[in-house]
Amino acid sequence: MRIDIITVVPDILKSPFEASIMKRSIEKGLVEIHFHNLRDYTTDNYRQVDDYQFGGGAGMVMMIEPIDKCISQLKSERTYDEIIYMTPDGETLNQSIANQLSLKGNLILLCGHYKGVDQRVRDHFITKEISIGDYVLSGGELGALILCDAIIRLIPGVLGNETSALTDSFQDNLLAPPIYTRPAEYKGWKVPEVLTSGNFPKIETWREEQAYLRTKDRRPDLLKN
Ligand code: ADE
Repeated sequence: MRIDIITVVPDILKSPFEASIMKRSIEKGLVEIHFHNLRDYTTDNYRQVDDYQFGGGAGMVMMIEPIDKCISQLKSERTYDEIIYMTPDGETLNQSIANQLSLKGNLILLCGHYKGVDQRVRDHFITKEISIGDYVLSGGELGALILCDAIIRLIPGVLGNETSALTDSFQDNLLAPPIYTRPAEYKGWKVPEVLTSGNFPKIETWREEQAYLRTKDRRPDLLKN
């Protein structure tokens, strides 16, 4: 998978790709990440990427021309499955969207900044709009990072243990059951006996029950779907 991220602040984005799972996915050749600084697509001396709103109002708007130049350049080099705009008024990210996007080949992520982008960008270039939750960030960059992480860990071969993404919370509309590791007893606090019983069908049943109970308690809305 190739992800091209368009931003006015590429520095925010770089270090998360230099550690842990996202770094490993790049080293394994499963993912390529390319950053594009919108200012590199301006033609004026000030490298201007934003301007005042028509009709008045507080806050600057990202101009269409540098975004057009950047996206058109990328599209002339390869085809993209989705051109995604990160915005608080987009579709709220969930595991199902992450699953679908993890199957794609080439994605562009456009990070909004200031008040957001000129509506004509959304009308003519964007194929999908994603929010990471009902709160407003100062830009789409952190949202783009979260989206990349959620997608990349689902790509086959990225996680060491192939099954571990399948048992995540939300993967089947259930939260994950409680998990434990050694020691089996700590300060008198014991691990549930079933987990050390070696009876794997019983362990599986226990985990399913616990996942259901936890979901019913914390996220009953998930059970309605
Ligand atoms: N940009 C600003 N707020 C955002 C959000 N909640 N999700 C995605 N992009 C954003």
